[in-house]
Amino acid sequence: MGVTRATETISPELHEYLVAHSAPVDDVLADLAAETERLFPERIGMQIGPEQGTFMTLLTRLAGARDAVEIGTFTGYSSICLARGLPSDGTLLACDISEEWTSVARRYWERAGVADKVTLKLAPALETLRMLPTERRFDMAFIDADKEGYVDYWDELVPRMRPNGVLLVDNTLSNGRVIDPTEISSPVEGIRDFNDRAVADERVELVVLPIGDGLTLARKKE
Ligand SMILES: C[S@@+](CC[C@H](N)C(=O)[O-])C[C@H]1O[C@@H](n2cnc3c(N)ncnc32)[C@H](O)[C@@H]1O
Repeated sequence: MGVTRATETISPELHEYLVAHSAPVDDVLADLAAETERLFPERIGMQIGPEQGTFMTLLTRLAGARDAVEIGTFTGYSSICLARGLPSDGTLLACDISEEWTSVARRYWERAGVADKVTLKLAPALETLRMLPTERRFDMAFIDADKEGYVDYWDELVPRMRPNGVLLVDNTLSNGRVIDPTEISSPVEGIRDFNDRAVADERVELVVLPIGDGLTLARKKE
């Protein structure tokens, strides 16, 4: 890799420091994180972290996105971060299969004042995407559901992105398991397939960022 500097590993202390020196998380998101942990303690790891949420809001705003789609909503943290970056007439199509988890999201969309922007589709996301009208387009997409489906979600979404549209894909380093040859579970294999496909895709330019357990940021070329 030569002598270029690699990204630092973030210690828990440094992580705390960077969160403290980023835009503060408001009460809505703090309460949502606390309630998710209380209701679903074994699932709290599925929720994106505070700095990723802030990053997603900023990026949505910077991209001037109006229409967004999310694959994998859970209790709503990332959807609120996306919706907050959209203008008041913006739209977010939120895709999930869990009535239980997204019932929490619905309550927090109301509290965050973004419920008018969000449409929730409770069905396998691939079906939802394939049933969209052919002319439906997005400026921002976030993929964060079943890892085995990432390649299919990508294949459905890239053609629907407007020029300069942004795709964000979560968990693309899988806590480093992508480079562990003994790791042959289907979610990690799904991520490896996705990463190989995405980097070779000439319709986009992209970077893999060490945010959370890996976040791919891609721009649809004009
Ligand atoms: C990692 S969680 C999403 C976390 C969420 N983005 C957040 O920040 O809180 C993954 C979600 O994907 C959903 N999911 C799993 N398989 C799915 C599928 N085939 N179609 C749609 N959603 C799916 C799960 O129900 C779960 O809520």
